[in-house]
Amino acid sequence: MEDSSVKIEVKHNGPLTISGKCVIINTDGTETIKEGRFSLCRCGLSNKKPFCDGSHKTLTHDL
Ligand code: FES
Repeated sequence: MEDSSVKIEVKHNGPLTISGKCVIINTDGTETIKEGRFSLCRCGLSNKKPFCDGSHKTLTHDL
C-alpha cells in the first residue's frame, strides 16, 4: 500500500522541507502540484517564493 502522507520538516534557521505530494495554491489562485521533496521559504527573503532559494543563509538572527 502506497504511503500518501505528507511530511513537513522544520529546518533549524531554514525552510520547511516537504516530502510527498501536495497542491500549493498561489496568491493569484493558480495551483502548483508538487511531488517529491522540496522546500518552502519561512524567512521571507527568497526571490522564488513560496520556494526556498537559499537566501536564509544570509540571516543574522534565528528564525
Ligand atoms: S527559508 Fe530559505 S530562503 Fe527563506
